[in-house]
Amino acid sequence: MPVNLGPASALETAGRKVVSLGDVEVGVFFTHGRFVAWRNQCPHQGGPVCQGGLYRRVVEVLDDERKDLRQDQHPVDVNIVCPWHGVEFDVLTGRSPPNPRFRLTPAKVEVVDGEVWLDV
Ligand code: FES
Repeated sequence: MPVNLGPASALETAGRKVVSLGDVEVGVFFTHGRFVAWRNQCPHQGGPVCQGGLYRRVVEVLDDERKDLRQDQHPVDVNIVCPWHGVEFDVLTGRSPPNPRFRLTPAKVEVVDGEVWLDV
């Protein structure tokens, strides 16, 4: 059953909220102009992944011979880093960049009449 999380504007400002729906925890994120929601259970060993740090994805800058010049931050992609062992997931897609089949479990989130509704 969907749960009302309140005004979208408040969650947009906060950027992230972790809520409990019964015995299921879900992290709701406002990123790249939209809401996404993931179960707060890392697919590695069950850590509270939605409470991890959010960072721009690190990319390697290569020269013409594909030799490493330096590291930089991706201009758009943001990863969430699980606080238990550091596995990273794209906060928008839920996929781990090194292994896209390794991914977070989505929850359903939508905005109706300015209110955020969440369901698992
Ligand atoms: S439980 Fe998330 S990285 Fe291990």
